[in-house]
Amino acid sequence: MRRVAVTDGMAKEAVKKLENGGCEVVLGAINHQNLASGALGEFDAVIVRSATKLTREILEASQPRLKVIARAGVGVDNIDVKAASEFGIPVVNSPRSSTQSVVELTIGHLLGSLRHIPQADRSLRSGEWAKSEFMGTELYGKRLGLIGFGRIAQGVARVAQAFGMEVHSYDPYLAPSIAKKFGVTLHKNVDNLFRTCTHISVHCNLTDETHHLINKKRINMMPGVDPFNLKCGNHIVNCARGGIVDEDAAYAALKSEQLSSLALDVFEHEPVDPESPFLQHQRFHGTPHIGAATIEAQRRVGLDIVDSVLTVLDGGIASTTINSDDIA
Ligand code: MLT
Repeated sequence: MRRVAVTDGMAKEAVKKLENGGCEVVLGAINHQNLASGALGEFDAVIVRSATKLTREILEASQPRLKVIARAGVGVDNIDVKAASEFGIPVVNSPRSSTQSVVELTIGHLLGSLRHIPQADRSLRSGEWAKSEFMGTELYGKRLGLIGFGRIAQGVARVAQAFGMEVHSYDPYLAPSIAKKFGVTLHKNVDNLFRTCTHISVHCNLTDETHHLINKKRINMMPGVDPFNLKCGNHIVNCARGGIVDEDAAYAALKSEQLSSLALDVFEHEPVDPESPFLQHQRFHGTPHIGAATIEAQRRVGLDIVDSVLTVLDGGIASTTINSDDIA
């Protein structure tokens, strides 16, 4: 019987679908030591989210049985894809399933920042009624800069436009016709995006090119005033990947008030150190990497990833394979 290890949890319907597809499903985390000693060598497929790290050493130890590595989600930064390709193992993911959930979290963080919702809640819980301390600003009329213009950014753009925001983007890989179709101003130079926009949201992958793309120099370019000359401050949201925002620079900018708010769902080091200075800063708020954490997204992620796993185990090529060109 085909055996599938599901190490970081998966929706019940998806587990059932695997079983109906003739697989024995083993649920539960496997510690690094056991993975490195070849625990995955007993399985035909492994399905991970972000908690399990699949290193070269682990993949080598899983040979020759392991036939497919599945990432229930988008980012594959916890998988050594190069090593997987060398061992001939396809890596599949579920790139579309969590789009709407991440869009909604991004908008939630934007609204939370501008209306001080987390801070006002903390104040209320401490017994205060500090009505006059939480003067916010509207999204309406502000310039939103989206770094990257893939599916999630496109969803954010639609909602932001419905709020009356003027949407700009920097995406060196985007055809100008797509930006035009969305009514979005596309910048060729990322610095111009920062010079133009008071609100920035990140929607790209973490690569050498995007590492610390949001840094001191660029935060200092942000104008702090909207097109009507209202001092709305500068605001950054990152629900994409840690490491794109230089956290030291962002913290310094919060302290100097060049940055009025910073909202992060993703961090350079996860889980976040409980001693992180961000956690003490009043104008910071964060969530523990929950972009895809909705019942709907997890159901879709699970069902989509199971489709891909079954396709590979049945001898086919899944359309979501990310290393099909590189497999040895
Ligand atoms: C993803 O890459 O799918 C998201 O960041 C969610 C996650 O890692 O769980």
